[in-house]
Amino acid sequence: MGRRDQDDQSPAPGRRSFAYRIVTLLAMTVVVGLVLAACGADSKPYSHITPRSSTTRDIQSLYKLVFWLALIVFVGVQMFIVYTALRFRQRGNEVDRPAQIHGNKRLEIAWTLIPAAVLLVILIPTIQTMYEFSADAQEGEYVVDVYGKQWWWEVQYPGLAPNNGTLITANEVRVPAGRKVKLQLSSNNVIHSFWAPQLFGKMDVIPGHINEIGFTPEKPGVYYGECTEFCGVAHALMRFTIIVEPQEEFDAWVAAYNNERPATDAKPETGDVADAPAAFGACLACHAVNNTNAVVAQAGMASNPYSQGAGPNLTLFGCRDFIGAGVLANNKENLRTWLRNPGGVKEGNYMALLIKEGTLNDAQIEELSDYLLSLKPAAGCPEDAREQQDAQDKQGEG
Ligand code: CUA
Repeated sequence: MGRRDQDDQSPAPGRRSFAYRIVTLLAMTVVVGLVLAACGADSKPYSHITPRSSTTRDIQSLYKLVFWLALIVFVGVQMFIVYTALRFRQRGNEVDRPAQIHGNKRLEIAWTLIPAAVLLVILIPTIQTMYEFSADAQEGEYVVDVYGKQWWWEVQYPGLAPNNGTLITANEVRVPAGRKVKLQLSSNNVIHSFWAPQLFGKMDVIPGHINEIGFTPEKPGVYYGECTEFCGVAHALMRFTIIVEPQEEFDAWVAAYNNERPATDAKPETGDVADAPAAFGACLACHAVNNTNAVVAQAGMASNPYSQGAGPNLTLFGCRDFIGAGVLANNKENLRTWLRNPGGVKEGNYMALLIKEGTLNDAQIEELSDYLLSLKPAAGCPEDAREQQDAQDKQGEG
């Protein structure tokens, strides 16, 4: 029995399996379409297809261009496949094999040129946009230095502290809405990557070099971001927020930050931290609180070995939304959990080398969490004032 006969006897490829494939394909298209549509909702803060800045709007344009070109290519290819399958299928009781061909110069030139043209249509606006981004970064009015630490972010605003000093905070990057912001990214340890999908594209944070991001946030709000380059054991717990607020609120926050504790409260002669419980002595080497004498901790990219292990500046800590770089909501219960055993919340963090379960007793934990939550302006956090104002405005309208 020859090969031909065998083919003839095997069950026909059948219309059913062809129809089945088409139905499966359609079903998959519908599901993917629904999933993509869900991604567009505003309730998804990590979605890059709900742009909220000039930069992400440009990225979105490129994304749409690629999407539509890919869709045209996909539909075109599928149509050709369906046409070929129908046009050249075995009809009736045809038994002859069709002519077997090898190579076709015209076709090969065509399917080399068409993809090249498609790629060129994508390449030109992509390069244009990349140049616009670096030009944008150069024009930034608000310069913010962001340092990748293991595993949190130090945020510095040169010139915003008294006497043209540097305002230092952590994990919450505040920027005024509608102004051009320039982020300068660097690291003194390993490579991280900084990405807030609604505001700007991913940018690596590398040792020994400053990478820049320029963007203009449009709408006040809280935008979420995280490290997107594997950087060690707590990489997935290295989050941040970008808080976009109207200029006057940003200014109010800067003022509150600089005045949180009057410097006259500090007692340098005794070495005590102003108003800090004795237990805070264990925190001094790594954490600074501005306008107290708890300012010996290293900050920034100092090349000495202590700078790598030092932790976030805790000024206005009581006004922060999160602790542990976006890992836990900032409240008393979570602070207790963190202070009892920081390594249990975030494995491998430097604080956990020093503070283990049992290092601080319950009374110290209570004292420290009260103290930390008290680190806010006497008049309340700038946000609280804004929320009260909003509530009043709403009442007024109603
Ligand atoms: Cu830092 Cu991943």
